[in-house]
Amino acid sequence: MQLKTTISLKSLNTFQVEALADRYVRFDAPDEIVDYLQRCPLGASSHLVLGGGSNLLFVDDVDGVVMHPLLKGIEVVDADRSHIWVRAMAGEVWDDLVAHAAANGWGGIENLSLIPGSVGASVVQNIGAYGVEVKTVIERVEAVSLINGKPATFSAQACRFAYRFSNFKGAWAGRYIITAVVFKLERQPAFVLDYPGVREAVNGLGGISLDAVRRAIIAIRQRKLPDPSVIGNAGSFFKNPVVAGDAVDDLLRRYPDLPHYPQGKGRFKLAAGWLIERCGWKGRRVGRAAVHDKQALVLVNLGGATGQEILALSERIRQSVLARFGVDLEREVQVVAADCGLTQTFSLSSRSR
Ligand code: EPU
Repeated sequence: MQLKTTISLKSLNTFQVEALADRYVRFDAPDEIVDYLQRCPLGASSHLVLGGGSNLLFVDDVDGVVMHPLLKGIEVVDADRSHIWVRAMAGEVWDDLVAHAAANGWGGIENLSLIPGSVGASVVQNIGAYGVEVKTVIERVEAVSLINGKPATFSAQACRFAYRFSNFKGAWAGRYIITAVVFKLERQPAFVLDYPGVREAVNGLGGISLDAVRRAIIAIRQRKLPDPSVIGNAGSFFKNPVVAGDAVDDLLRRYPDLPHYPQGKGRFKLAAGWLIERCGWKGRRVGRAAVHDKQALVLVNLGGATGQEILALSERIRQSVLARFGVDLEREVQVVAADCGLTQTFSLSSRSR
């Protein structure tokens, strides 16, 4: 365990914005979390559980404690003829787990290659890409209650996963720190290649295999998405909006090429990147913040931007998409602001607007 006071969070968030934390505590083992909570109960104090820092935007200093679980380890905990159960500690780098799985011939997460962030955070927001969401391979989630310091285990069903959502950012926000995740992976991978461009890219790499899918996904991502170690960003800033069929019909009359994907129950998902690009934002720069020139859903820090600047740009984008298309974009990135106040809203949950 490592305790610090007044530290910079700049290197701990992929937007690379400056923010100070009042207190910071790094955990290297689940027992340390339990010990810490016994000695320093959180009570009403603000706290933030930090993963890879790849899905948040600090707009103020953190007047509370930043808890950083850097627990490491990947082990096989069970196996049968078709599956392997792999337990990964929350502080493992997500893509290290994907690489490990692909190298061992375990299928299920290869489409999630190169997503920045930690194993623990992958659960919180049910990461997804190229036709796969992590919820499909989660067996159970291990956590420690921040309220009473006791360990708890949750089935995938209890987590109530949905598009970029789980109970950890809903009903349980601020109440748990995830310590480990057990994934159920496949010995005979059922490849998911239907997302536009994926099959072609895999075929171009000499045929379907875990390694080829992983390499294809990495190549697609590298073409479109900025590398956070080079240019500050947090991936998609907004979620793709899901809207009613009537609204889509109206929009299609005006914009016949509007991308729209059926979601069941007469609802459709729209491509936020397309809406933003159509509003003229793609590649636009406002001060030290900008809209990425290859993917309009990604906001970038050109160097030295503050969280407030990036948030202000995102609000201008949101307003123009609302004015033009009547669609209110919801943030995917979690904004961490001082006025969030209480434990629940200060953790990984999103702030309501
Ligand atoms: N599009 C545009 N202009 C743009 C960007 C996209 O017209 O600037 C159009 C594309 O042409 C395409 C559609 O929008 O028709 C979808 O684009 P893309 O395949 O790039 O995916 P996305 O919907 O923009 C989502 C996820 C990404 C994930 C990709 C691939 C969300 C919010 N984003 O992006 O996830 O990698 O699909 O599955 O769901 C993330 O969550 O941080 C993230 C990067």
